[in-house]
Amino acid sequence: MGGRKGVVKMDFLEQVQQELLILPQQINNISNDFQQAMQSGLAKQPSSLKMLPSFLDTPSGTEHGIFLALDFGGTNIRVIVVELLGQGIFRIKKHISKPMVASDGSYNYITDTVTAEQLFDFLAEQIGAVVEENESYGLGHTFSFPCCQNSVNSALLLHWTKEINTQGVEGQDVNVLLQQALVRKRLHNVNPLAIINDTVGTLLTAAYSDLYADIGSICGTGHNTCYVQPLASGNSMIINMESGNFNKLPRTKYDLQLDCSSDKPGEQILEKMTAGKYLGELCRLILLDCARPGLLDRDFFACYSRPYSLTTERMVKFSGKEGFNINTYRAVEGVAAALIKRSAQLVAATYLGILQHIDGTGIKHHTIAIDGSLYEKIPGYKQVLEEVLIKNDNNKGRIKLVLSKDGSGVGAAIAAASVSQAERNIS
Ligand code: BGC
Repeated sequence: MGGRKGVVKMDFLEQVQQELLILPQQINNISNDFQQAMQSGLAKQPSSLKMLPSFLDTPSGTEHGIFLALDFGGTNIRVIVVELLGQGIFRIKKHISKPMVASDGSYNYITDTVTAEQLFDFLAEQIGAVVEENESYGLGHTFSFPCCQNSVNSALLLHWTKEINTQGVEGQDVNVLLQQALVRKRLHNVNPLAIINDTVGTLLTAAYSDLYADIGSICGTGHNTCYVQPLASGNSMIINMESGNFNKLPRTKYDLQLDCSSDKPGEQILEKMTAGKYLGELCRLILLDCARPGLLDRDFFACYSRPYSLTTERMVKFSGKEGFNINTYRAVEGVAAALIKRSAQLVAATYLGILQHIDGTGIKHHTIAIDGSLYEKIPGYKQVLEEVLIKNDNNKGRIKLVLSKDGSGVGAAIAAASVSQAERNIS
């Protein structure tokens, strides 16, 4: 009987791993469909890619001065004071970071019982903890959600992502909400100059020192990519694609299940298949299914009965030490490896689509700047990205992937510096 159970379990795992496999032909199809979606989005035709203008080009490298950066992406809020010295050199002079949800349960600023005013007061308070009273600061604000911008300093939140639900922010100008909170907190010495997406910040930081940096991407709690789009005028502009919403993808029943019970079914399909917010939950759903034949440790299900109780971080660090039986350990490990590989393959396929769009048939150098816990911390993630890119792109050897560590915050300071430089040039 025990042997039979083992066989069933292996079949189940192999079957799941098979379902999560992305074949070379699929990579090809995804990159072509992604390129098509980019073109439709740019032409304002129906597309899953929002292609949002940032009103920023890559930096000249001459941006300098001391700036404040506020970086809010969902999990933590960071405030930094950065000194930009030009040519890619910067120094972080002060830094604070606070979680949006307290680990002891004492506060939670990303749930639907919290108002916009409460959330932005919390953000302004963190700024207040960093600034000196007798100094004035230009602020760059990284706000890592889909926003419609009509200038570099205003951004309407289209909708929350990453299962965030704070009331009264969707449809509002995020910089107005911040400005009002700064007034309430009497922080009159802080002047918001620019608001950017975290992908844009990641790209700006890399491009501050690297001429070839033209794609910025986040592979962390959420997923998204931006790139530099040449304009008819001869200039260029960074476009935030909101690629996490791309949806022409081969989904399994687990992807559908996760999507159905998410806050926003039908949205952020690529993100739900690739990002840290969701991989642990996908793994949990797969293992729950696997539990039907009664093969895994019952205690595992008691431990992880609540949705999202198995975080991606926990899934990755899962080991025999958790005290569950060996079958359970092997199952988590096997499913995690397959989910992580699929995530990197899908993301790489979208990079190929972008490269096709930028290059046409030409061959160019590109630096893809990436930040986020999956890329930075998960062994093998970068290798799978590189493998797919090398196998499928014409630019052999001309594509470099770099970690733009905490680039989103520094990028906001660079954006603020380029706005203030442009203002100085006008006056
Ligand atoms: C947001 C993007 C953001 C990405 C990474 C997604 O959920 O929609 O704007 O860039 O997460 O933080």
